[in-house]
Amino acid sequence: MKKMKMEKDPTTLFINTLLFFFFLQFQRFLSVSDSSLFPIEALPTKSGYLPISPTSTSSIFYTFYEAQNSTSPLSQTPLLIWLQGGPGCSSMMGNFYELGPYLVTNSLTLQPNPSSWNRIFGLLFLDNPIGTGFSVASTLEEIPTNQNAVAEHLFAAITRFVQLDHVFKHRPIYITGESYAGKYIPAIACYILEKNSVLKDNERVNLAGVAIGNGLTDPVTQMVTHAENAYYVGLINERQKHELEKLQLEAVEWVERRNWSEATRARNRVLDVLQNMTGLATLYDYSRKAPYEDELVAKFLNIGAVRKALGVKVDELFVYEKCSKIVWAALYADLMKSVKYMVEKILKEEMRVLLYQGQRDLRVGVVQVEAWVKSMKWEGIEEFVNGEREIWKVNGKVAGYVQKWKSLSNVVVLGGGHLVPSDQPLNSQVMIEDWVLEKGLFGSALELNVSTNFVYDG
Ligand SMILES: *[C@@H]1O[C@H](CO)[C@@H](O)[C@H](O)[C@H]1NC(C)=O
Ligand SMILES: *[C@@H]1O[C@H](CO)[C@@H](O)[C@H](O)[C@H]1NC(C)=O
Ligand SMILES: *[C@@H]1O[C@H](CO)[C@@H](O)[C@H](O)[C@H]1NC(C)=O
Ligand SMILES: *[C@@H]1O[C@H](CO)[C@@H](O)[C@H](O)[C@H]1NC(C)=O
Repeated sequence: MKKMKMEKDPTTLFINTLLFFFFLQFQRFLSVSDSSLFPIEALPTKSGYLPISPTSTSSIFYTFYEAQNSTSPLSQTPLLIWLQGGPGCSSMMGNFYELGPYLVTNSLTLQPNPSSWNRIFGLLFLDNPIGTGFSVASTLEEIPTNQNAVAEHLFAAITRFVQLDHVFKHRPIYITGESYAGKYIPAIACYILEKNSVLKDNERVNLAGVAIGNGLTDPVTQMVTHAENAYYVGLINERQKHELEKLQLEAVEWVERRNWSEATRARNRVLDVLQNMTGLATLYDYSRKAPYEDELVAKFLNIGAVRKALGVKVDELFVYEKCSKIVWAALYADLMKSVKYMVEKILKEEMRVLLYQGQRDLRVGVVQVEAWVKSMKWEGIEEFVNGEREIWKVNGKVAGYVQKWKSLSNVVVLGGGHLVPSDQPLNSQVMIEDWVLEKGLFGSALELNVSTNFVYDG
């Protein structure tokens, strides 16, 4: 989850404005060599805007990258949809900083990402909800304030996208994302399941599974683990633990009184105090010496030639922000509301669910996810909780741990923080590919290997 700070400081605005004009100049300087700025091979296969309803001019901006080396005919190749968190953070962060085919460098150029998630799958990034990134919110009132509205808009955008080309029509769709998308993803998946049950065969969305990275899904259950988590990692002492526990309880009390915006405020306070107590560079990864440099993406996307290459239709004065304060404010009171019941419903329908967490994330990490997962009402939960935690290896090295029962898989990614595809590019690619294709530890049945499983001593 991206924490938004409301900047009151006018100097920040001034500096942003200065930076922006600097980039306008920079862009003119670069326009002589646009192709070096945005090489043709880095262009999305398709990009543009998807309407959210026939009666509105609001739309969701997308970039789509076809599979690079698909192992199946394109008409059957899985399609991954990526949703960023926030609320209000742009999926272009995922595109250019985490898992897209080209990532932005410190010198604001693009370099190929060999660990892209579109190696063998199509990959669609959606700036969700409207008002986020390059997505258009024609009126403030249309910006979603709850997960139903988010799902409704996403459903319209996804069905429209699938209609853009007959090659998309029957492909299995996997909805993936990170952080606050831990709420969007169950919401859109449930919405699709409901719609599919009343739609005709050829109008259904071919949903095949959902994958949530470091997700906020059941916020109260997740929030009350921070004090213990930080204490047992060795980052705070017992007195600080008690202090944090008191703040956590305050947030719980606001929830009990159904005062959702105060509950969000109280949760933010827990994390702010934890930040102050630990003095870490970022709670998103306790091992980092500096925060993630995802601001590079905003700098890159504020270059006119880059926007033009991406098919963005905004005037020069539009300032792209990695996270929208307006969308964040619209969903502020929604933040602490749980969508756990939606995940339960998805599992009951035997839809495949992958949860994965970078192990070093202190905001929405391993402990925060396990806390709500084990409290789920699902017939398989006991088997899941008591199941083996398998050691997961990539190229012979320990990459993390996989726990799986039927359609639910949970992965701990070692050496990763909040942005797993940035921190562990190759392992994240192996994980998503194996999970989608049900290979390795994600296999659907026990793969008996006779030569290694039966060694007779006689
Ligand atoms: C796709 O295959 C080509 C040719 O083998 C290779 O050069 C390229 O690196 C592959 N792309 C990815 C993302 O693996
Ligand atoms: C929530 O609590 C705050 C602070 O006491 C109060 O100002 C606000 O009106 C309350 N909101 C609701 C919806 O009860
Ligand atoms: C954290 O520390 C800063 C600087 O000392 C202080 O201004 C801020 O109020 C503190 N925040 C909290 C929530 O204690
Ligand atoms: C069985 O295990 C051997 C040795 O690890 C491996 O080389 C082989 O590919 C495996 N066979 C199958 C079908 O998985």
